[in-house]
Amino acid sequence: MGGFTILFFSSTLLSIFITSAAVDTITQAQSIDDGETIVSAGGDFELGFFSPGSSENRYLGIWYKKISTGTVVWVADRDVPLNDSSGILKLDERGTLVLLNKANMTIWSSNSSRSVQSPVAQLLDTGNLVVRNENDSDPENFLWQSFDYPGDTFLPGMKYGKNLITGLDSYLTSWKSTDDPSTGDFTNRLDPRGFPQMFLKEGSVVTFRSGPWNGLRFSGMPNLKPNSIYTFHFVLNQKEIYYTYELINSSVVTRMVLSPNGVLQDYTWIDRRQGWLLYLTAQMDNCDRYALCGAYGSCDINNSPACGCLKGFVPKHPNDWNVADWSGGCVRRTRLNCQNGDGFLKYPGVKLPDTQDSWFNMTMNLKECKMKCLKNCNCTAYANSDIRNGGSGCVLWFGNLIDIREYNENGQDLYVRMAASELEEYESSDQKKLVKIIVIPIGLAGLILLVIFVILHVLKRKRLKKKAPLGEVTMGHNPERDHTNESEKEDLELPLFDFDTIAEATDNFSRSNKLGQGGFGPVYKGMLRGGQEIAVKRLSKNSRQGLDEFKNEVLCIAKLQHRNLVKLLGYCIQYEEKMLIYEYMPNKSLNSFIFDQTQSMLLDWPKRFHIIKGIARGLLYLHQDSRLRIIHRDLKASNILLDQEMNPKISDFGMARSFEENETEANTTRVVGTYGYMSPEYAVDGLFSVKSDVYSFGVLVLEIVSGKRNRGFCDPDHHLNLLGHAWRLYRKGRSIELTDASIQQSCNPLEVLQSIHVGLLCVQQSPDDRPSMSSVVMMLGSEIALPQPREPGFFVARRMIEAADSSSGIYEPCSVNDITVTFLAAR
Ligand SMILES: *[C@@H]1O[C@H](CO)[C@@H](O)[C@H](O)[C@H]1NC(C)=O
Ligand SMILES: *[C@@H]1O[C@H](CO)[C@@H](O)[C@H](O)[C@H]1NC(C)=O
Ligand SMILES: *[C@@H]1O[C@H](CO)[C@@H](O)[C@H](O)[C@H]1NC(C)=O
Ligand SMILES: *[C@@H]1O[C@H](CO)[C@@H](O)[C@H](O)[C@H]1NC(C)=O
Ligand SMILES: *[C@@H]1O[C@H](CO)[C@@H](O)[C@H](O)[C@H]1NC(C)=O
Ligand SMILES: *[C@@H]1O[C@H](CO)[C@@H](O)[C@H](O)[C@H]1NC(C)=O
Ligand SMILES: *[C@@H]1O[C@H](CO)[C@@H](O)[C@H](O)[C@H]1NC(C)=O
Repeated sequence: MGGFTILFFSSTLLSIFITSAAVDTITQAQSIDDGETIVSAGGDFELGFFSPGSSENRYLGIWYKKISTGTVVWVADRDVPLNDSSGILKLDERGTLVLLNKANMTIWSSNSSRSVQSPVAQLLDTGNLVVRNENDSDPENFLWQSFDYPGDTFLPGMKYGKNLITGLDSYLTSWKSTDDPSTGDFTNRLDPRGFPQMFLKEGSVVTFRSGPWNGLRFSGMPNLKPNSIYTFHFVLNQKEIYYTYELINSSVVTRMVLSPNGVLQDYTWIDRRQGWLLYLTAQMDNCDRYALCGAYGSCDINNSPACGCLKGFVPKHPNDWNVADWSGGCVRRTRLNCQNGDGFLKYPGVKLPDTQDSWFNMTMNLKECKMKCLKNCNCTAYANSDIRNGGSGCVLWFGNLIDIREYNENGQDLYVRMAASELEEYESSDQKKLVKIIVIPIGLAGLILLVIFVILHVLKRKRLKKKAPLGEVTMGHNPERDHTNESEKEDLELPLFDFDTIAEATDNFSRSNKLGQGGFGPVYKGMLRGGQEIAVKRLSKNSRQGLDEFKNEVLCIAKLQHRNLVKLLGYCIQYEEKMLIYEYMPNKSLNSFIFDQTQSMLLDWPKRFHIIKGIARGLLYLHQDSRLRIIHRDLKASNILLDQEMNPKISDFGMARSFEENETEANTTRVVGTYGYMSPEYAVDGLFSVKSDVYSFGVLVLEIVSGKRNRGFCDPDHHLNLLGHAWRLYRKGRSIELTDASIQQSCNPLEVLQSIHVGLLCVQQSPDDRPSMSSVVMMLGSEIALPQPREPGFFVARRMIEAADSSSGIYEPCSVNDITVTFLAAR
């Protein structure tokens, strides 16, 4: 002891080495009090007592030692906290770890079925706390290990699943909150029924399904790909079914967590400055909500609405379906006739449906699989169980097909049973398509598509003219000019790009060139031969909605020219491809700046004010000064692009509508827009006017000033959104507190207050109370006295959103999902 003390004082470094190297085990004679810890041999993990977040309770747990982030990976007594620091951890003579409180009561224990001569408990460098015989470090012989009883964290080396022999079931359970490790509402667990898959549940309700393992990944996790951080495996045999992953470089720190709000997340530690990088989340978007589209429905996030019926199926309850309640699902248009030779329709690129009522055989081939399904009249679909090497194995489904979705990449093939008569229809149309592609020379095909496009457009416009006062955007709102064909030609005077040119410019649409995912497809960066940089919006195939938006955008923006609108350079329609080519905006979109902690530093107040004024001028041009007079309908931060000089450019005219001079408002049953930016009268009644754009502009102004999203805004003091918060501060005369911390240095308080004031005026409940864009431009340009705003119109909007889409916020109470949505107005 004395020697040790001397060492300790003579060399701190050495003493750290010695203490940490020495104490990674507890023997029967030892115990750990609150304040003491043991550290794994390599110093990666530490075991001891801690208090999570702002809680004062004490828990026994394991956390990272080297990166000292306070990130806890395992908690022993998660549901039985200690309320003082009297806790003691002991190892009893039978090899059971016991946690005692002040009164010597056992509040937690590890239990093992066996006992050994001289048990020790050891904390391994994997983060696993094990109890074993002193002389036996074979993992097979561990008496007990914490890896068998995970909490919310799944570490490399853990087995996540079920041991069919012992019945041991390892699964994740979320914490209640970041301050409270007690058992939360969410679990992610292997379901061994049918072809095994993972279910993420809230209580007993499934919220997300990973889908079954397909040899490469879980069918519902297309972004689980080979990577440089870890390798992953799924084991399925008579004894056990589990998923596990291993680090490629053991000095990399990574963990998978089920967050308190039910999101499965992979994190990797970067460094002290950058902290944890969110590497992957299992749930990607709304389509990942379990069974969103009901039985025989299929979800495609590129479509709007996202839910559709499988081919040959129709909504079971059309009325509900039309108001975005898809839970009723779809039913067959034509009944199956098992005796008369039903067939199968192939769906490529999907997530396999729920497999709890399925059967599988890993050695059958696809042909045998099909025959097997055909023979059983209850069999509704089949697929390969393993998609590696061209596919092998067989899964059969019985009963309804639930929770199918379509993927842009990494989906797989599903074969759905159909009545023979239905099948003919789809097969022949597929064949016709094929003939067209093969027989007709490619250039000609492009030409024909173009002609069809023009004809469709003419027809549509004629139809629309009769039906609605507000058509889709077309050239010449002026009725006299409308009769002439001239305007049609003018529509297409935009340069037509060759597909090969675009393919070359974007390096064949390589992933490294992908800038993001727009409303109707991916967006790529490209460089033309001459060196001009472009952005290419590529319409996803099969996107009905996308096609309409595509046409709308071509016709709309081609006619517009303003320094605050993004410039369309041309378009491309060839093969089955449709693309829009824009000038490239090196600084991406506004939301990548204002909502990002580090990026927001780059936008000081003068720049932000410049941006606000620029957007206002762009919008004024659309509303008043352009040839078309346009309502944008989907103004939001992600649709404001920034050029080299941080000049804002309004983009994405897929939803835009033109209107006549004497019209002030119109309505639609198909409401398109983005939650958080939609005005109440538009979201609720489908009424849109220039004033609904003004509302969105107001939201945008408050977001730019505050650096916070309206939707997803969280304040510990109240449950208001950003508008409510801004209004609250305004009434208390504390508006300035809304200012984003990163612009507090650079801000001009008068301009900031004026902007907030204008923002609040723009988001008034009644459209009539909102200023026009010309007034807004004026108000922003001077320090004139402004009318007093009233309470903003957001309460209605909020209720509406909750009713129309209970999804808003499923992932996080503060959801930041600003996808453009469509639904039918509840009128
Ligand atoms: C601490 O918890 C024990 C039971 O575990 C209880 O009897 C005691 O009153 C609690 N003390 C405080 C200060 O809450
Ligand atoms: C708890 O047990 C220890 C030793 O087993 C004993 O010294 C102590 O008095 C006990 N405390 C209580 C409150 O029973
Ligand atoms: C471990 O404890 C649980 C209850 O906490 C009990 O159901 C189980 O049978 C115990 N296992 C063994 C091996 O003692
Ligand atoms: C460990 O020691 C026990 C006796 O204490 C002995 O029976 C056993 O064979 C030893 N195991 C190993 C792996 O050395
Ligand atoms: C593992 O990662 C560490 C730190 O990131 C690095 O220094 C080391 O070279 C890596 N080792 C291998 C084998 O890649
Ligand atoms: C799976 O299919 C193969 C080939 O058809 C067959 O030999 C085998 O018995 C099947 N296994 C089961 C469990 O049905
Ligand atoms: C089909 O399902 C029905 C009802 O679930 C059942 O009675 C029948 O036995 C099943 N037929 C086959 C061939 O499995």
